[in-house]
Amino acid sequence: MATVHFDNVTIRYPGAEHPSVDGFDLEIGDGEFLVLVGPSGCGKSTTLRALAGLEDVESGSIIIDGRDVTREEPADRDIAMVFQNYALYPHMSVAENMGFSLKLSKLPKAEIKAKVREAAELLGLIPFLDRKPKDLSGGQRQRVAMGRAIVRKPSVFLMDEPLSNLDAKLRVQTRTELAALQRRLGTTTVYVTHDQVEAMTMGDRVAVLKDGVLQQVAPPRELYERPVNAFVASFIGSPSMNLITADDPEFGRVILGIRPEHVHVLADAPSTTDSEPVLDVVVDLVEELGAESYLYSHRVDAPDVTVVSRLGAVAVPARGDHVRLSLDMTHAHWFDAENGQRLQRGITSGNLHG
Ligand SMILES: Nc1ncnc2c1ncn2[C@@H]1O[C@H](COP(=O)(O)OP(=O)(O)O)[C@@H](O)[C@H]1O
Ligand SMILES: [Mg+2]
Repeated sequence: MATVHFDNVTIRYPGAEHPSVDGFDLEIGDGEFLVLVGPSGCGKSTTLRALAGLEDVESGSIIIDGRDVTREEPADRDIAMVFQNYALYPHMSVAENMGFSLKLSKLPKAEIKAKVREAAELLGLIPFLDRKPKDLSGGQRQRVAMGRAIVRKPSVFLMDEPLSNLDAKLRVQTRTELAALQRRLGTTTVYVTHDQVEAMTMGDRVAVLKDGVLQQVAPPRELYERPVNAFVASFIGSPSMNLITADDPEFGRVILGIRPEHVHVLADAPSTTDSEPVLDVVVDLVEELGAESYLYSHRVDAPDVTVVSRLGAVAVPARGDHVRLSLDMTHAHWFDAENGQRLQRGITSGNLHG
C-alpha cells in the first residue's frame, strides 16, 4: 500500500506546442480509489502512464509512498497496470496468464501457484484456471486481466478504461465488483475513465481533467453539489446541468446552473405569487425511461435557450406542447460568464435571457 503524490507535473510530447498535462497537482491517500475523469484527449492516459514510468515528465515530480520515482524505471515503481486492451496470451491457460509476471521474476513454482489460487479465489476464477482465454466470456477475460495485476500485490493499481471492452450490462456489473474488490484489497488505485457515471459510482474521490488541467478533486457528492466551474457542472451528471445566461445587478453577466431534477413543470393553474422564475417553453423531445422521463425543450421567446427537466413517470407532456417550467432556485448554481468560475455568494435574482 502507498500514497501517490503528483507534484506540479507537466508532460509535453516531443514537438508539441502545448503540454498534454499542465501543472498537475494531486495527493492520493493510502488505499484510496481515485478516479481520473474527463473528455477524450484531456490527458488522462498520459497522466497515468507518467505515474507508471511510461512517459517522461517535463517538470515536477512523482512521489510514491514518499519516494521520488520521477526518474525511476517502470519496473522499479511497484505498480501494476490494467489497460483497455488487456490482451491475454492466447496459448496460455488462465493460471499461466495470471502467473506469468511472477514466473518472469523467477518466483518458485509452488509460490506462484499459491498466489494465483489466492487471486483466482478473489475473482471467482477457480473453475476456469485450466481454460484458454478463447473459452472464456468477455467478463471472465477482464477478470483474468485483473488477476494478472492482483497476483503481484503491487503498492498501486493503475487502470486505464479497463471496462470499455465490455457490453453495457456487464460493465455495470463489473464496475460494482471491481470497486468492492479494491475495497477488500485496500490497494491504492488510480482509475481512468471518460465515463462520468463510472467515476461517480466507483471513486472515493474524483479528479476532473480538462485540456490537461485539473479542474476539481472531490468526493462524488461534493462534485455534484458544488462544482467549482461551469465545465465540471456540465460534465458531471446526466442529462447535464442546464446553463442559462443571465444578468445580475451586482455581478454583471452570469451563468445560472440548474440541474434537470430542479426544473419542474407547472400545472395549468395560474402561477403562484412566489418568486421562482418561470420559463415558457415548447417541448422538443421526451425521453421516457420508465421510472422517470426527461423533457427537452426550448424557450418560446428565446429558442436558442434549451432546458432539460427530469420528471416522474406520470402525466408527461408531449412533443410540441407548450408548458411552463419553474426553476427551484434553492438549488441554483451561479458561475461567472467570462471565466466559468463558481460565484461563491448566492445570487437571488437574475434577469434570465437568451
Ligand atoms: N504519443 C503521443 N505523442 C504525441 N501526442 C500524444 C501522444 N499521446 C497522446 N498525445 C496527445 O496528448 C493529449 C492527451 O492524450 P491522452 O492522455 O491519450 O488523453 P485521454 O487519455 O484523456 O483521452 C491529446 O491531445 C493527445 O493527442
Ligand atoms: Mg486515454
